[in-house]
Amino acid sequence: MIQLENVTKVFHQGRQNVDAVKNVSLHVGKGEIFGIVGFSGAGKSTLIRCINFLERPTGGTVRIDGVDLAGLNDAELRRTRRKIGMIFQNFNLLSSNTVFENVAAPLRLANAPKRERVRKVRELLDMVGLKEKESVYPAQLSGGQKQRVAIARALASDPEILLCDEATSALDPQTTESILELLLEINRKYKITIVLITHEMHVIRKICDRVAVMENGEVVEQGDVLDVFSNPLQPVTRNFIRTVFDASLPDSLLKKLRELEQPGQLLRISYAGEHAAEPIWADLAGRFGLRPNILYGNIAQLKDTTFGTLVVRVTGEPEAIRAGMDYLAERELKIEVIELAD
Ligand SMILES: Nc1ncnc2c1ncn2[C@@H]1O[C@H](COP(=O)(O)OP(=O)(O)O)[C@@H](O)[C@H]1O
Ligand SMILES: [Mg+2]
Repeated sequence: MIQLENVTKVFHQGRQNVDAVKNVSLHVGKGEIFGIVGFSGAGKSTLIRCINFLERPTGGTVRIDGVDLAGLNDAELRRTRRKIGMIFQNFNLLSSNTVFENVAAPLRLANAPKRERVRKVRELLDMVGLKEKESVYPAQLSGGQKQRVAIARALASDPEILLCDEATSALDPQTTESILELLLEINRKYKITIVLITHEMHVIRKICDRVAVMENGEVVEQGDVLDVFSNPLQPVTRNFIRTVFDASLPDSLLKKLRELEQPGQLLRISYAGEHAAEPIWADLAGRFGLRPNILYGNIAQLKDTTFGTLVVRVTGEPEAIRAGMDYLAERELKIEVIELAD
């Protein structure tokens, strides 16, 4: 659906060149929710604006449904852009227009007949839960309600793609949840492909199928959200994951473990799915005569699954510990031995 190949964007600022986006390649499939996460200044906004040519890349190609945007004339580009809605952190509503007029704006531009406009705007406002607010002005709305209006407006031209630039970053946590729920619903109901950028890993965790991590204009890592969570490769990715999911052992526990005479084997077991790790405790005890002791655990709820890690201390005969670890390694669990450095 969306194909970026080696997309580059250089801004010229006086004599200086700013490489905002460097050689980014990524593919977003139809119906996917694709997240791009990165710190401020990483190039996320520039990249997402390249997808609808609000920003023309200085290199590389952008294809939407196989069509290279660089080959389109102005009229064709406008038509393609109608397939791509966009929402922003600061909502970008027209303050002198009512909610109704804001949502109707794209329909006016497309010369939709009045009756059609009224029908469509009401349907959209109903969908975003603002049926009663059509004659209100944006200043009378909360942040979450403003974003709902912006979403309704973005959907007015029946887009196939919705681009979200930090759409929840100005909202409190509870309102963020409700907007993310709404985006999920839109994705499921209308099969709209969503690309969102955020500096919050929480947003990725909650609704994204796949994720790309950006740093200094580059995509340094991308993949299924579960894979990236369970096996982050880059330091920046680990830092982001740590903000929602901390799998490291607390210092106080480490101290206690160091003081144990028989430390046993310390394992970190990572698993996906709620019950994935359950049967292993009985097996480690029953089959191998080991004593597993769960010291620490953490679970993250992802869009379609849970991802957890447990830190377990296993004691028993060395031979049995080895056999028990082989057994664990054969299952769909990721096992790491934790070394206690002095
Ligand atoms: N129009 C512009 N002119 C010059 N530099 C820009 C422009 N837009 C963005 N930049 C620079 O490009 C880099 C990436 O910015 P941006 O894409 O906004 O990052 P993010 O959205 O991840 O915070 C920054 O260094 C920023 O200062
Ligand atoms: Mg930005």
